[in-house]
Amino acid sequence: MSAEIFKTLREDHDKQRTLLDLVGKTKGDSEGRRELFARLKRELEEHAMAEEKSLYAAMMSADGGQEKARHSVAEHKDIDDIVEQLEEMEMSNPRWLATFDRLKHKVLHHLEEEEHEIFQAAGRVLDDERKESLNEVFVEAHPRM
Ligand SMILES: [Fe+2]
Ligand SMILES: [Fe+2]
Repeated sequence: MSAEIFKTLREDHDKQRTLLDLVGKTKGDSEGRRELFARLKRELEEHAMAEEKSLYAAMMSADGGQEKARHSVAEHKDIDDIVEQLEEMEMSNPRWLATFDRLKHKVLHHLEEEEHEIFQAAGRVLDDERKESLNEVFVEAHPRM
């Protein structure tokens, strides 16, 4: 559990938490909502993609790691779907924020689960050498790191 990758992922999760809070405070069809939602969307996509290429690719090929990896990747897809719904909705629609609350709830659940369950499972099923290599794989796969 002490491998660098887990620290990097937690720090990246905190960016998502901050952006979720900020978007939740925006109102209607505003510059602030547009800009912060676009940042959140990019943050979610890039993080999930790099995570799938590093941590989850490793877990998929490790004994005992597949089930949890598949579960998390399915959650990435669910998160994508809600982001897409939000993009198709007018930001001035009062239901936008209600849908955003669903996204926030889903993402916060996902981050909690990764931090409190998945990383521990990865710690158990991956060997040390593999774990040590994952941070670099994640950073390489992430367009802004
Ligand atoms: Fe994550
Ligand atoms: Fe994730």
